[in-house]
Amino acid sequence: MNEQKATNVVWHDHKVKREEREQLLKQKGVILWFTGLSGSGKSTVANEVAYKLHEKGKLAYILDGDNIRHGLNKNLGFSPEDRKENIRRISEVANLFADAGIIAITAFISPYAKDRNFCRELAGEGRFLEIFAKASLETCEKRDPKGMYKKARAGEIKDFTGIDAPYEAPENPEVIVDTDKETVDESAEKILKKLEELGLLKWGVP
Ligand code: ADX
Repeated sequence: MNEQKATNVVWHDHKVKREEREQLLKQKGVILWFTGLSGSGKSTVANEVAYKLHEKGKLAYILDGDNIRHGLNKNLGFSPEDRKENIRRISEVANLFADAGIIAITAFISPYAKDRNFCRELAGEGRFLEIFAKASLETCEKRDPKGMYKKARAGEIKDFTGIDAPYEAPENPEVIVDTDKETVDESAEKILKKLEELGLLKWGVP
């Protein structure tokens, strides 16, 4: 589903450029891509990061797994092909948000390295930060906030990530949040620190 189907479509350049939007917002439009098992804390930490950014006057927007699967991606399931298409669409949307100058935060299991790397390449150099929400399967299963692991173990959900579907951990993520050990606040602060180090929050400020 990734090839160009429509012919006779021409790319338009707009009068207001990305850099000008970033100047306006005093931030760089980037993608903070969370990945990790279900129950690893992606959404929780993403929420805290978005909150802290908001407090600092930075515009961020969260694209979240379960929510997107109720709308944009409601026609997709959990086969490898559907997960790939899920991540492809989200990558394109996140990239548009980043192009708008917004800090796009995504929280999807995104179990395949290849699919995550698709977004990294789409976003371009310096505009994609992979954040690995690292928690053992044991911890995630213990948390089981939605009762999904229980169902997966009982065979009521098939192809469940970590049980009978694979999860490929990132090899070189920009940030690792060890949610087994860190508090939500510590994890969020770690990410904020990284953004500051990279100068992403003072973009365009002399
Ligand atoms: S992804 O693999 O395509 O990135 P995504 O993050 O959108 O997954 O959705 C994961 C959420 O869907 C989980 O948090 C869980 O609540 C729910 N879910 C339902 N079935 C499955 C399944 N087979 N594997 C993983 N998650 C599932």
